[in-house]
Amino acid sequence: MANKGETLLEVKGLKTYFHTQEGVVKAVDGVSFSIARGEALAVVGESGCGKTVTALSVMNLIPDPPGRIEEGEIIFEGRNLLEMNDREIRQVRGNHIGMIFQDPMTSLNPVFTIGSQISEAVRVHLGLSRGDARQRAIELLRMVEIPQAERRYKMYPHEFSGGMRQRAMIAMALSCEPKLLIADEPSTALDVTIQAQIMELIGRLREEIGLAVMLITHDLGVVAGVAETVLVMYAGKVVEYADIDRVYYNSRHPYAWSLMRSVPRLDEKKDRLLTIGGSPPSLINLPPGCSFSPRCPFAEEVCRREEPPLREAEPGHLSACHFAADFEQHGQGVKA
Ligand SMILES: Nc1ncnc2c1ncn2[C@@H]1O[C@H](COP(=O)(O)OP(=O)(O)OP(=O)(O)O)[C@@H](O)[C@H]1O
Ligand SMILES: [Mg+2]
Repeated sequence: MANKGETLLEVKGLKTYFHTQEGVVKAVDGVSFSIARGEALAVVGESGCGKTVTALSVMNLIPDPPGRIEEGEIIFEGRNLLEMNDREIRQVRGNHIGMIFQDPMTSLNPVFTIGSQISEAVRVHLGLSRGDARQRAIELLRMVEIPQAERRYKMYPHEFSGGMRQRAMIAMALSCEPKLLIADEPSTALDVTIQAQIMELIGRLREEIGLAVMLITHDLGVVAGVAETVLVMYAGKVVEYADIDRVYYNSRHPYAWSLMRSVPRLDEKKDRLLTIGGSPPSLINLPPGCSFSPRCPFAEEVCRREEPPLREAEPGHLSACHFAADFEQHGQGVKA
C-alpha cells in the first residue's frame, strides 16, 4: 500500500443507507479506499457487513428507494461517478468497470445460450459486427479456460457446471475490456478445488491484461496469492486496511485477527481454529462505541463508550481499534 501506482478508483467517505420501515440501515457508513491500476484489493468481512452494497455503490446500482448514497465521492479515472448523468455512468459501467454479481442469475439469462449472451455484450460494448462479436466471444471463453469453446458457445447456462458458469460470467464481465473487475464472491458456491482455479484465473487475467480487481469475499482463505491489499469491513465500516501480509501476519484489529484465526491455512499447523462468538449487530441499531466491542475478547470500558477512529497503526496500515498500537498477533492479544 505504501508505494501504489497511479490511482484508478478512489472511494471517499462513502455512506449508503437503506430507508426501511424498521429504520435506517446504515449498510455502508463512511468507507474510504483506493485501487491503483492493476492492483487487486480484497474486501472481506462476515455476511451483512456491507461488501455488496459497497460494490453496487461503486457501480451506482443501489436500488433507490429504499437505498440512497448519502455522502461520499467515487472517483474513477479522475471523475466522480456520483456526479455523472445516466448516459455517462452507463458508459463507465459498460466500458471500464466489469462486475461479476453475487447472484449468478443477475448476469446469465437461462433462456439464451452462453455464446449469444457474451457476443451480445461484446456487440453493445465494443460495437463489433455479429461475426466479429462471435469470434471475440469464443476468444473470451478460451481466455477464461473453458474447454471446447466453440462447442460450449452454443450451450445454455444450465448445461454448464457451476465452475464453468462462473468462468462464463467472468468472460461476460471482461467483454467490455474493463480496467477494473469487481468480483462479488466469485467462488463461494464452488467446491474448494474449483474455487482455487477461479482465483488462479483471476490472478492470471490480472497479469495478462493488467486488470485491477476488487475481490469481495467472506473467505479469507481464498485471497492470499490473488490480492495484495485487504480491506476488512465490520458493520458497514472499515476496521482494518493494509497489505495482505500485514493483515495476515500482523493484524492490528481484533476482528480481522479473529477472522484470520478462523481460516484454515495450509502453511501453518494449528491445533484449533478460532471462531468468533456472537453475530454482527443490527445495522439499524449499532451498539455504542466500537461496533465490535460486544464480541471482542479484548474490549475494555473505553471500547463500549467511544467509537475508535480509523487511523494508522503503523505507516500504511489502518486500524479502527483503540488498542491497535498494542495489538500483537499470534494469540497473545492486547499487551497493555
Ligand atoms: N435493498 C435493501 N434494502 C434494505 N436493506 C438492504 C438492502 N440491500 C442490502 N441491505 C442491507 O445492507 C446490509 C449490507 O448488505 P450487503 O449485501 O452489502 O452485505 P454483504 O457484506 O455483501 O453480505 P454477504 O456476505 O452475505 O453477501 C445488510 O444489513 C443488508 O440487509
Ligand atoms: Mg454480498
